[in-house]
Amino acid sequence: MTDDRRNILVTSALPYANGPIHLGHLVEYVQTDIWVRFLRGRGHNVYYVCADDAHGTPIMLQARKEGISPEELIEQIGIQHREDFDDFQVQFDHYHTTHSPENRHYSEYIYRALADRGHIIQRTIRQAYDPDEEIFLPDRFIRGTCPRCGAQDQYGDSCESCSATYAPTDLKDPVSAISGATPIERESDHFFVKLADFESMLKDWTGSTGKLQPEVRNKLEEWFTAGLRDWDISRDAPYFGFEIPDQPGKYFYVWLDAPIGYMASFRSLCDREGIDFDSYWGVESTAELYHFIGKDILYFHTLFWPAMLHGAGFRKPTSVFAHGFLTVNGQKMSKSRGTYITARTYLNQLDPEYLRYYFATKLNSRVEDLDLNLDDFMQRVNSDLVGKVVNIASRCAGFISRRFDGELGARLSDSNLFDDFIKGNATIIGAYEAREFSRAMREIMAFADRANQYLNAQQPWAIARESGKEEQLQAICTLGLNLFRLLMIWLSPVVPMLATRTEHFLNCPIGSPESWKNLDRPLLDHRIEKFTRLLDRIEPSDIDAMIKDSTEPDNADAGRHLSAEPINPEISIDNFGKIDLRVALVTAATHVEGADKLLQLTLDIGGETRNVFAGIKSAYDPEKLIGRKVVLVANLAARKMRFGLSQGMVLAASGTNDNEGIFLIEPDTNAEPGMRVR
Ligand code: 2FM
Ligand code: ZN
Repeated sequence: MTDDRRNILVTSALPYANGPIHLGHLVEYVQTDIWVRFLRGRGHNVYYVCADDAHGTPIMLQARKEGISPEELIEQIGIQHREDFDDFQVQFDHYHTTHSPENRHYSEYIYRALADRGHIIQRTIRQAYDPDEEIFLPDRFIRGTCPRCGAQDQYGDSCESCSATYAPTDLKDPVSAISGATPIERESDHFFVKLADFESMLKDWTGSTGKLQPEVRNKLEEWFTAGLRDWDISRDAPYFGFEIPDQPGKYFYVWLDAPIGYMASFRSLCDREGIDFDSYWGVESTAELYHFIGKDILYFHTLFWPAMLHGAGFRKPTSVFAHGFLTVNGQKMSKSRGTYITARTYLNQLDPEYLRYYFATKLNSRVEDLDLNLDDFMQRVNSDLVGKVVNIASRCAGFISRRFDGELGARLSDSNLFDDFIKGNATIIGAYEAREFSRAMREIMAFADRANQYLNAQQPWAIARESGKEEQLQAICTLGLNLFRLLMIWLSPVVPMLATRTEHFLNCPIGSPESWKNLDRPLLDHRIEKFTRLLDRIEPSDIDAMIKDSTEPDNADAGRHLSAEPINPEISIDNFGKIDLRVALVTAATHVEGADKLLQLTLDIGGETRNVFAGIKSAYDPEKLIGRKVVLVANLAARKMRFGLSQGMVLAASGTNDNEGIFLIEPDTNAEPGMRVR
């Protein structure tokens, strides 16, 4: 080992706890995991932590939509995320959640430290507000017509059609994506971090780490030139997050506590394993700290995050490594094309290490988008991993086990070739360290080609037919398998399960620090196990099946294929049993003054009367509802609305778009009010 043992803490960005991990996410986790495994193999002390990003409005609303609490939602999603990462061999030392006591502690600590040092100010702002739902609307929850190109149904901050960015107030005919109500403007007090206080520190940090990618440095320059604006770190109730100390009804914005989640996850690991937290996060720390992120969240990680750390007396990151986005077959992932592929859908058909390898062939240290071309993927994996690397082993192993009782020989048939491989080690190590994985893969495959060329030239299968050439045959196959061993040690950060299978086959460590350390010591007079197939080829049918499983009709089709909306995550019968559904008779129905979408219903549920506001105005004339029976979620927590208390919810079918209509669920004629629906 050439360099000293380093202490390194590495993170990947925290995925939101409201949806599945997909292949786009995996670029980053695979990239980070390869780097971490490589550094560990080189003998460094590396911790790799992550967590679910559990707070914010989308998660709160998603839970509401599913009729569960946010805590239940993040619990369920957290389990799925962990399983996906495990199965993709992403080996975290700890996977936490931002909805944790450790995260609350550090969020409050950092906030208080910033406040005590005068870096936080309070200001009143005007913001879009949904009067029906009584909630301030994040820009993404306002939809309307693009002020520039006139495209309909665009987000409040940007147009997907013409890429214009604007303020939600510029949007024409804005509506709340939650209730459909027209947003109004409302005032509220917010807390801001004065980012400009940190300008000179941030400039020093940018200049001094020496490790920032050039693209990132340029971006920072742009931001410095544009001027650092105050950062709004608070949100009003209702919000799923941590309440700000001494500020009832005000919550930390999810982006305040998300990066603190890196610390909190590490803290939890420290508590479990007795690691000294301060030696990683203290201002005097000599440990290295790296964050892998996507290019879209640079601002948070290169401005806000170092400012928060510095302002609260912690060390700053050694570097932040940004990567580009994933396209599939050259285009943005799309449900209608079947290229929005979740980790689980992929795993149902294909070996995770195919994708790890393919990503490795595409990843470099720059902030570039990368494409998963599915034909190229199949061809590359089959040709490189199966056709080149594993092929070397399968060409040599049979002779060793049949002719030499599983014993490698006492010499290599061509020690110069082995030495050439060893000479290539430094380049491969350098490429890995620099996160130039595609270069590392190219180098490794060039060596695999050389090994195959050697075997082609030597023709062990021909020698095997000649008498008296036993020792030569053994020496050739011994070299072949030793070259295979080197290739697999080099590939071990990328394909750890294949490395483990190789370890069993060759009876020697592959990928551990010991294996890297003893790389140049060939296996001689060494017993190996019988060769069993190490890796299968990808079949086109596997890919077809994966695309089929991922395909959903696009929006134009949605009206005719309403089942296209994905089925929610599975729940247990116990969870379902918690929902109390009752037959309800509509005894009165009226319009609601000032509400675009709501009708007010009076419901008889057999001896009890309920008042319910239902968003069905677009589909029903209130008079015609009187006397009809509906199904009520009778034990849903009552909600205070601007118009009064809504005591439950009536069930109705609807498509993904408003124009697909709303259809009340009606029990059969003789069902009595109050009857349980199950
Ligand atoms: O953009 C995202 O998906 C965020 N959940 C990433 C958070 S990274 C860190 F700051 F927590
Ligand atoms: Zn537009």
